[in-house]
Amino acid sequence: MLFTTTQEHELFRKKIRKFAESEIKPQAFALDQNNEFPTEAVKKLGEMGCMGIPYPTEYGGAGMDILSYAIAVEELARVDGGAGVILSAHVSLGAWPIFAFGTEEQKKKYLVPLAKGEKIGAFGLTEPNAGSDAGGTETTAMLKGDYYLLNGNKIFITNAPKADTYVVFAVTTPDIGTRGISAFIVEKGWEGFDFGDHYDKMGIRSSSTAELVFNDVKVPKENLLGKEGDGFKIAMATLDGGRIGIAAQALGIAQGAYEHALEYSKERIQFGKPICAQQTISFKLADMATKLRCARFLVYSAAEKKEAHEPYGMEAAMAKMYASDIALEVCNDALQIFGGSGFLKGMEVERAYRDAKITTIYEGTNEIQRMVIAANIIGRMPKDKSAGGSSKIMKKSAPITGLRKGMILKDGSAQEKIDTLVAALKKDGYDFTVGIPLDTPITKAERVVSAGVGIGKKENMKLIKELAIQAGAAIGSSRPVAETLKYVPLERYVGMSGQKFKGNLYIACGISGAVQHLKGIKDASTIVAINKNKNAPIFKNCDYGIVGDVNEILPLLAAALDNGEEKKPAPPMVKIKRPLPPKEKPIGKSYICGGCGYEYDPGIGDEDAGVAPGTLFENVPDDWVCPECSAEKDNFIEG
Ligand code: CAA
Repeated sequence: MLFTTTQEHELFRKKIRKFAESEIKPQAFALDQNNEFPTEAVKKLGEMGCMGIPYPTEYGGAGMDILSYAIAVEELARVDGGAGVILSAHVSLGAWPIFAFGTEEQKKKYLVPLAKGEKIGAFGLTEPNAGSDAGGTETTAMLKGDYYLLNGNKIFITNAPKADTYVVFAVTTPDIGTRGISAFIVEKGWEGFDFGDHYDKMGIRSSSTAELVFNDVKVPKENLLGKEGDGFKIAMATLDGGRIGIAAQALGIAQGAYEHALEYSKERIQFGKPICAQQTISFKLADMATKLRCARFLVYSAAEKKEAHEPYGMEAAMAKMYASDIALEVCNDALQIFGGSGFLKGMEVERAYRDAKITTIYEGTNEIQRMVIAANIIGRMPKDKSAGGSSKIMKKSAPITGLRKGMILKDGSAQEKIDTLVAALKKDGYDFTVGIPLDTPITKAERVVSAGVGIGKKENMKLIKELAIQAGAAIGSSRPVAETLKYVPLERYVGMSGQKFKGNLYIACGISGAVQHLKGIKDASTIVAINKNKNAPIFKNCDYGIVGDVNEILPLLAAALDNGEEKKPAPPMVKIKRPLPPKEKPIGKSYICGGCGYEYDPGIGDEDAGVAPGTLFENVPDDWVCPECSAEKDNFIEG
């Protein structure tokens, strides 16, 4: 157990602190305000050898220990939480899996430039349906000769799009749960690998975070990391180490806030004496200092265990959970000590308060950390196999917008696809001789034509306007179109944080379908998606989809809906029923019990008897008996 750091560690801390104070602190407020990545400072960190602190010198690293790495993250986060996570995500998540599981060639090609800081690394695990339940990964990588074809989306990826090298997790063998997931090294710039929406975050705004979009990306076979099927374990092992980094980040953010509060409490005079001389504040400071010391012990001892190659997953989870929980408390107290002044923009404690929050969420929420700790103490809990996600037989998770028709129009010319779409919409009950004003509030509109960043230049908004007129709809947008591009007023953006569309027809044009947007349209009766990226998540969430360029499709669709007359005012909205999705094919034949008539459905299985959903009758164990009358399996006949 570690009680004190060595002199070398403290000398190293001094060096990083000097760098953080001189190179990052002066610009931290501006980086936060402008959502800006500290490119130059990261480059300098690389030159100082900090981007590869714990890696051997033969791989371009500094050959130092894990504790030094934790100290570096802590010191950067002490002045700027965002800078801390840039280093942590790079070292722990981008580089470590290559160091631990890579072949010699992979290490030479990818680890060396990462460790030298010539390239930045990132980790692509999280997906809309695979957050805490990381085993619910839906991105696929199908082997096609000498390459894998990678398709899917990753969300909330730290260091994207700045990073050059991504460790990405994808399903290579469907339907077998976590053992069907593999890890790959993917390079920025490969054809079909794009970045999605930029996130406007509450805190750690100097770190970049974006979506990864994979559209038929050819990943050479030699970029498989570890063996096929090892991906989930690689992800879990990587996160064990990553959690030390996040714990150090939380510790640093809290330490910075504490120091500011301590200093201020000595200067601020109230009731004739410094507030630190008043018991209510001095006790607060005493609690803060104690919590920081406890967190530091947890973080450093987890780092020591990792360094000593001892099991450290539980200790890392404890450190991450505790350090981030107390970071919120310490930052809250620090802001409280500053009073009204701490509430102002530009105050370090205000930024620390916002930066701290994410540390209880990412690299496993603190609820997940408690699960990991509990599993280490008590043992792994039995799984609810009906719950889907990473259970051994995976059920396809429903799209965010609920079950949809999912008719993607692929065949024929653009005009033919549009004719099919318009005929289907008319059949669903849409009358295109009527319309509503373009500025009808989104929440009241019966129809909305909405623009995403795929619309391109501002002048293309005329295509949206024309389509909205002909579709009898109001105009909406995704958040970036309103907030970043400012093509429409803020109150017209649709999404979880914006306006919720509850009407009938939603036509999404050039919208990729970020989760936050999809949640704002889940009550739409009909969703039409038009996007040139066939892998855009919107297509999994729509009733009708056309894969195509908005510049071509929108004018054709507007023309097809044009009846040559001005639209008549629409009658009050009547909610149209959702088009029904086609019935799923049954998984296999059902069997009837000759004794009582009970029907065995392979889609449901018999979970009480340990027969998972999806188990064909042929594969049900021979000693299984009818759950109703206990008749033996032999007594069942094909239904
Ligand atoms: N190391 C190695 N293997 C591990 C492991 C570990 N730490 N934990 C589990 N495994 C193995 C298990 O032994 C098991 O192997 P077998 O199939 O051979 O039995 C397999 O993995 C599956 O284990 P579980 O059944 O326990 O897995 P699960 O599906 O129940 O998931 C979980 C467990 C701990 C909840 C996991 O899903 C988890 O950690 N979730 C949180 C995900 C997370 O942290 N995401 C963060 C994204 S990255 C990020 O946030 C970065 C950033 O922005 C900075």
